[in-house]
Amino acid sequence: MGMNKIWRSRFPIFQHHPELVYLDNAATTQRVDSVIDAMQEFSISENASIHRGIYNLSNAATNRFEDTRHKIAKFLNAKSGENIGFTKGSTESINVVAKGYLESRLSKDDNVVVSILEHHANFLPWQDVCKKKGAELRILRLDGDGKLSPESLAELVDKRTRLVAVNHISNALGRINPVTSLIAKCKKRNVPVLIDAAQSAALHSIDVEKMGCDFLVFSGHKMFGPMGTGVLYVGDNYREEVEPLVVGGGMIESVSESVSTYRPFPFNLDAGTPNVQGVLGLGAAVDFLTQLDKDAARLHVARLTSKFTQGVKSIAEIKLVPLFDEESGIVSFNVNGIHAHDVAGFLNRDNIAIRAGMHCTQPLLDELNLDATARVSFSIYNEEEEVDRLISSLQKLVDFWK
Ligand SMILES: Cc1ncc(COP(=O)(O)O)c(C=O)c1O
Repeated sequence: MGMNKIWRSRFPIFQHHPELVYLDNAATTQRVDSVIDAMQEFSISENASIHRGIYNLSNAATNRFEDTRHKIAKFLNAKSGENIGFTKGSTESINVVAKGYLESRLSKDDNVVVSILEHHANFLPWQDVCKKKGAELRILRLDGDGKLSPESLAELVDKRTRLVAVNHISNALGRINPVTSLIAKCKKRNVPVLIDAAQSAALHSIDVEKMGCDFLVFSGHKMFGPMGTGVLYVGDNYREEVEPLVVGGGMIESVSESVSTYRPFPFNLDAGTPNVQGVLGLGAAVDFLTQLDKDAARLHVARLTSKFTQGVKSIAEIKLVPLFDEESGIVSFNVNGIHAHDVAGFLNRDNIAIRAGMHCTQPLLDELNLDATARVSFSIYNEEEEVDRLISSLQKLVDFWK
């Protein structure tokens, strides 16, 4: 049995939908059996509120919740679990940095730099705080090769730059960005950097120490884990500067009628009853990824991407957006004369699930003069035969439309 058959057998959704060709992995990945089991086990035999109880069940839940921070720290090569905050996902993590860290430090005439490749989640929070504070949002554009260039970034960053935010892998195009070199340019000027690792956390090893980023975010549901879970990594230099967006029980040091003090990051993100079941599911996803041969996994998605891009070369009507890196497993394309939504609708009739539209990257599509694209995104459980089915369905679409 090939590796990917073994991987596929771990995802129960395909037993329920044996005919489904699921190629929307950049939106959300399917859930691995051990994540489902961990969450079910919590419901069946471990459910208790954390941080408050003095009884065994609550202590056990608290320990497992806190252990997950350490597990994730190891996964990212962060110094400690105290660098790891839990959120609902990448979107919330980025909002915490924009509103809980940056906003109070941003003044008129300061600037924030983001790339043109950002998902709205890594664009709107910065645009919003810049507007509120009269600061400038600067955009790092693609260079002549269709890449983000560290040299161009260095030209945009100056002494009034308060933060740079950029993604590791573009969800719309599948471009893998040179994050380590981009970060190095910012470090020269002591500018903090946030990396949006939503698309890379699953199959690309992330080492925050080597990368040198100050903030890094990802979502559980894009790495075989549960929806409603996410991570905000904050490096030691900024840990004490991150304030929560939500306050309430469970994150305080002391409360009086006139003055209250909060626990430091990451515990200050845990106001109210946290999503303990989700965090344990996220921990199980991290265990799965820690054991996964990531080199083999990336090679697998690169092969599928290559098979697809080579295969559609014979269909003249198909125009790839040629700004992808195969190891991302993501490719955007259009079919001449047919709107991307119609492409996706047609493929759906053959039980092939792909994404179509703007992919929450409207500034990028404007820049490329596109109003939509169809996007396929591969993961470890996809198979070569599925690429064949996709290509023959696209050929059928083109023949049908003629
Ligand atoms: C690159 C990127 N950043 C951020 C997000 C937002 O993630 P979430 O919806 O899990 O908060 C996504 C989701 O598509 C993404 O692809």
